[in-house]
Amino acid sequence: MKILLIFILYLISGTVDCSHVTGFSGGSIIMISDIQWDPSHTKYICKMGQSDCNDIIRFRSQSHHVQYKRFLLYRNTGGSFLVMIRKLKPQDAGMYRFGVEDQSNYTVNLKVRNDASCGVPKIMNANLGQNITVTCNYPGEYGKNNKYVITLDDETQIKPIIDTQTISEKSRFSISDDRSAKVLSVNISDVRETDGVFYLFGVWNKGASVGYYSYFTEIQLHVTGTYMTTSAAQREIPSGAEYSNSSAIISVCVCVALLLIGGLALMIYKLRCKRTHDSTNFSTFIQEET
Ligand SMILES: *[C@@H]1O[C@H](CO)[C@@H](O)[C@H](O)[C@H]1NC(C)=O
Ligand SMILES: *[C@@H]1O[C@H](CO)[C@@H](O)[C@H](O)[C@H]1NC(C)=O
Ligand SMILES: *[C@@H]1O[C@H](CO)[C@@H](O)[C@H](O)[C@H]1NC(C)=O
Repeated sequence: MKILLIFILYLISGTVDCSHVTGFSGGSIIMISDIQWDPSHTKYICKMGQSDCNDIIRFRSQSHHVQYKRFLLYRNTGGSFLVMIRKLKPQDAGMYRFGVEDQSNYTVNLKVRNDASCGVPKIMNANLGQNITVTCNYPGEYGKNNKYVITLDDETQIKPIIDTQTISEKSRFSISDDRSAKVLSVNISDVRETDGVFYLFGVWNKGASVGYYSYFTEIQLHVTGTYMTTSAAQREIPSGAEYSNSSAIISVCVCVALLLIGGLALMIYKLRCKRTHDSTNFSTFIQEET
């Protein structure tokens, strides 16, 4: 009876006072709050010690994005305050508070688990134009969860790439989730130079007050070689004829750029739509406002 009471008290205090957030060693988390990113107030994240909360980031500027080491605070396109912690270490476990000074804040209890092994090398190589498959073994209990893949470039710009929930459209990326083997695979066809970024694989968790994505692992893709489309390869450009072909190459580049911009716009539009339909999560939209 006493135990039951303690358990109930624990449950109550757990949901009222703070959210539990579980990450994986070597992985990353993105916490999504409903706090509005207010440019005129100080924003911060601190880690709670014995008596005070020790600042990791505290800043006040017009910027939508601030990074210190593995910690990143940013504003998403919905104007919300997001926190990313990358490459988690066991010693990152503990209580954190983040938010906007004099407005609102959240306290979360971060746990860092050790048992997610993606079972793949952290770095993959690909040649331009190649089709590749990136696979990731994920923890058993996530068999039924939707999986999400994002990319991060050197400027830590976050881009949602693909997930198992959204019906995949014609795109260079496709995803499949073998739930019995617990293997997630992402195919990238016709690899481009811009694909040479970090790929993060994870699941969404809806917490009591803060929802979060937990990414098991990240894989860096190195893209090498010179680009040759199959048609260009068949044409076989004779040496010395580069100049006459340069205008054709430029127009191809412009077309590709336009297609990419169009595709990106469509993707952003789709994600916006998805977000407005997704009423159960206050905001699962992780794209940064630019
Ligand atoms: C955090 O928010 C609570 C109420 O939501 C407030 O009482 C408290 O003063 C805030 N703490 C800080 C450090 O801003
Ligand atoms: C990924 O590519 C492999 C090999 O080319 C293929 O067997 C598999 O069906 C593809 N998966 C998806 C989701 O497109
Ligand atoms: C790469 O994949 C695309 C579409 O998924 C396919 O049309 C193309 O033939 C593949 N190329 C190679 C070299 O396998």
